[in-house]
Amino acid sequence: MLLATKYLGLSLKNPLVASASPLNSNLDNLRRLEDAGAAAIVLPSLFQEQIESETEAREARVDVYAESSPEALSYFPAAASGPYGMRPERYLDLVRRGTEAVSIPIIASLNGSSRAGWIEYARLIEQAGAKAIELNLYHVPTDLLESGRDIEVRYTEIVQAVCGSIELPVAVKLTPYLSSIGHFAATLVEHGAAGLVLFNRLLQPDIDLLRMSLTDSLDLSEPAELRLPLLWIAILAGRTKASLAASTGVSTVTDVVKYLLAGADVVMTTSALLRHGIEYMAALANGLSAWMRERAIASVADMRGMMSWQRSIDRSVYTRANYLRILEHAAYANLH
Ligand SMILES: Cc1cc2nc3c(=O)[nH]c(=O)nc-3n(C[C@H](O)[C@H](O)[C@H](O)COP(=O)(O)O)c2cc1C
Repeated sequence: MLLATKYLGLSLKNPLVASASPLNSNLDNLRRLEDAGAAAIVLPSLFQEQIESETEAREARVDVYAESSPEALSYFPAAASGPYGMRPERYLDLVRRGTEAVSIPIIASLNGSSRAGWIEYARLIEQAGAKAIELNLYHVPTDLLESGRDIEVRYTEIVQAVCGSIELPVAVKLTPYLSSIGHFAATLVEHGAAGLVLFNRLLQPDIDLLRMSLTDSLDLSEPAELRLPLLWIAILAGRTKASLAASTGVSTVTDVVKYLLAGADVVMTTSALLRHGIEYMAALANGLSAWMRERAIASVADMRGMMSWQRSIDRSVYTRANYLRILEHAAYANLH
């Protein structure tokens, strides 16, 4: 079985990638993920808020101490982490030590919605040894005057600026809340994106009625959430030069298989690893080999995109909601 694939120009031993999460923030877990068969690892994000607060703090430090001592900055070692995760220095250290600890590619992640500090940190991340950068363009447009076009232009400028400032390949982790995902994906690729991660999962608040307060707990994904990324992976497969990463809803090996058949170059997972432990990665990798062997499929390349929009005879399944046909389906027989 040939499980090898390419992602962002990197040669990977299989298509299984551990997506960004704090699970991937210590060296022991990175080694365990490699041992369990992960072909690449995305580190948890360095958040824009951390970069901004670091920049403000640095400016304040320089204002007060720069004239008195050339080592002024070293008097203020950054604390390890803040409300948005790791501080930039610690993050760069994780990139550096992570790339030394494992032989599989380490992909760093920047998360935010403006370019503040991203170019500087993208360069520092490159110097620290990451093999690629994932940009998570996380933005909830609460400004009612901000149009979809405004947002897309801003995102495109960020991607272009980051891609133009480093040699590393850049993947963009997209939100599904766009009016024309395919067009925007093509625009990002035109401006330098080497890969697209479909999709990012927005945190959606809930309301705690007992406390009468908002809650922002992070629920792990459910298998049904796979359908939306599956649709868009299938629509884009074979029609973009960018690598496609499927993210969201992988719970068993059948989900991995579905994403590959739709056309993903790699399949990412976080929730399944948080639910079942890091070693579950081995179950996914072995399960993929077994599935291919049973069906005499020799390589991942052979199965990739078999069910894509481009290679489908009846494309209406991807594009039209044919409720009547669905209701005639045997599974709904008891409704008649
Ligand atoms: C606890 C947790 C932390 C996460 N942290 C990040 C992060 O730092 N950056 C990011 O881009 N995505 C983050 N994600 C999103 C995951 O990378 C992934 O896209 C999402 O969970 C959907 O994949 P899944 O269904 O396999 O969990 C996080 C998800 C979880 C559950």
